[in-house]
Amino acid sequence: MLVYTSIPCKEVVIINFKNIENLKKSTAIPLYYQLEKIITKMIEEGKLNPGDKLPSERKLADDFLISRMTVRQALNELVNKGKLVRKSGLGTFVAKPKLQYGLFKLTSFTEDMKKRGLKASSKILSLEKIKPFEMVKNKLEAGDSYVYRLERLRFADDEPMALEISHLKVDICPSLNRKKLKDQSLYQILADEFKIIMNHAEETMEGGLATAREAERLNIQVGDSVLLRERLTYDQNDNPVEFVKSIYRSDRYKFYISLNKDV
Ligand code: GLP
Repeated sequence: MLVYTSIPCKEVVIINFKNIENLKKSTAIPLYYQLEKIITKMIEEGKLNPGDKLPSERKLADDFLISRMTVRQALNELVNKGKLVRKSGLGTFVAKPKLQYGLFKLTSFTEDMKKRGLKASSKILSLEKIKPFEMVKNKLEAGDSYVYRLERLRFADDEPMALEISHLKVDICPSLNRKKLKDQSLYQILADEFKIIMNHAEETMEGGLATAREAERLNIQVGDSVLLRERLTYDQNDNPVEFVKSIYRSDRYKFYISLNKDV
């Protein structure tokens, strides 16, 4: 059972994680991921509230009997997802929910390219049914189900723009195949054939450097800068449908955001 206490400290509340549920060291689920999930759950259940201060990395490491590096990895993930914020010299806090934070229009690659006046197309590099590794399994809530691993090279006006590795549960779109996907929008197929309407998503973006394999596919040099995007997309019923990692050529792709001071 989760046991925690809130200790008032000036204007902030420090949450004490002592006695909290233990991490399972003998499973394949990485420890940082387990800790990330525990903190996420506490935020979702209102046991950690916006403005609450987390204990130091050292304290968390002691409480959970894990290394500080593992704690840092879990906290970094949550900071990247906007669930925690770091205030320099003060510590790590539960983020205030941001109204309309990251609310941009959810588009498919095909729509995105169209908006830019470019024509999208794809080359299917592989489509296989796999037993997903733990992170994908958890994201898709896949249990023991098989998952499609779809790797596509995405073109804009016939020039490579991105490499995308998507994961989707087989049972929600059992008849997905290479033929259907050839130069057809995945989101369109999901909507038309399987009545799955992509509704909202969580996405992260970061800079990266192209590996040899990525460079070869994208027709760039090894070590050239790329934009790494990771997205978990949900359908109209709030079910996680697709987890994707995309590698975009940063010399060709610019991410556009419209900002407003009132949000
Ligand atoms: C974007 C998303 C991918 C998604 C793709 C679908 O690129 N990042 O997660 O697979 O759109 O695009 P399309 O419907 O054109 O196949």
